[in-house]
Amino acid sequence: MARQFFVGGNFKMNGTKESVAQIIANLNSEELPSQVEVVIAPPAPYLGLAVAENKQKTVAISAQNVFDKASGAYTGEISPAQVKDLGATWTLTGHSERRTIIKESDEFVADKTKFALEQGLSVILCIGETLEERKANVTLDVCARQLDAASKIIKDWTNIVVAYEPVWAIGTGLAATPEDAQETHKGIRAHLAKTIGEEQAAAVRILYGGSVNGKNAKEFKDKADVDGFLVGGASLKPEFVDIIKSRL
Ligand code: PGA
Repeated sequence: MARQFFVGGNFKMNGTKESVAQIIANLNSEELPSQVEVVIAPPAPYLGLAVAENKQKTVAISAQNVFDKASGAYTGEISPAQVKDLGATWTLTGHSERRTIIKESDEFVADKTKFALEQGLSVILCIGETLEERKANVTLDVCARQLDAASKIIKDWTNIVVAYEPVWAIGTGLAATPEDAQETHKGIRAHLAKTIGEEQAAAVRILYGGSVNGKNAKEFKDKADVDGFLVGGASLKPEFVDIIKSRL
């Protein structure tokens, strides 16, 4: 079964009303390939604006994070229901910046992922190793550990997209080579086959993230287990469209 090519744009904590509207206006002005699923994640204050401005059928709007509770005394947090109320349909969970800076545990990320799915959002679940872990040759162990926390409590992976983002490649300009990414993605899929079953593992999309840009995206074209990208810095620039079109 062919997996639909997927490109996510993670704006992180960047932008203003004006610049977010500008990025979306730029996307609106393009003829985007109908076979590519695009999801953009502006900062939470701009989710409603992004939903209102987006005119592309193939582009959906995502939060960058949600909490694992519906409502209540959780100052500063955002619930999946509120994200949905704004018209967004996706969320990221477990981005490495949240795992490392905000100290989110594998279990917390798994809980949020489960809750977001239950509340009707689709989820881009981010995983990936640090430079130290890579040097210690434990890349797949780390990815397996992060995925296992989720697969232990989530049985249906239909609405999950996995983003493999090695921490050392994020924002550094030093992307993984397509060969390295393919190798790791293959390992991730093989691991998922053991935990969520072969059928679901074959269907789940695994994105590569970390210094993807308009030029290097094309180099991943023939990598069988790389089903798309999660893009940070370049999603703020016009070259994001080149990444969306990189499989044409
Ligand atoms: P980058 O970020 O493309 O700026 O490296 C990717 C990400 O963190 O999702």
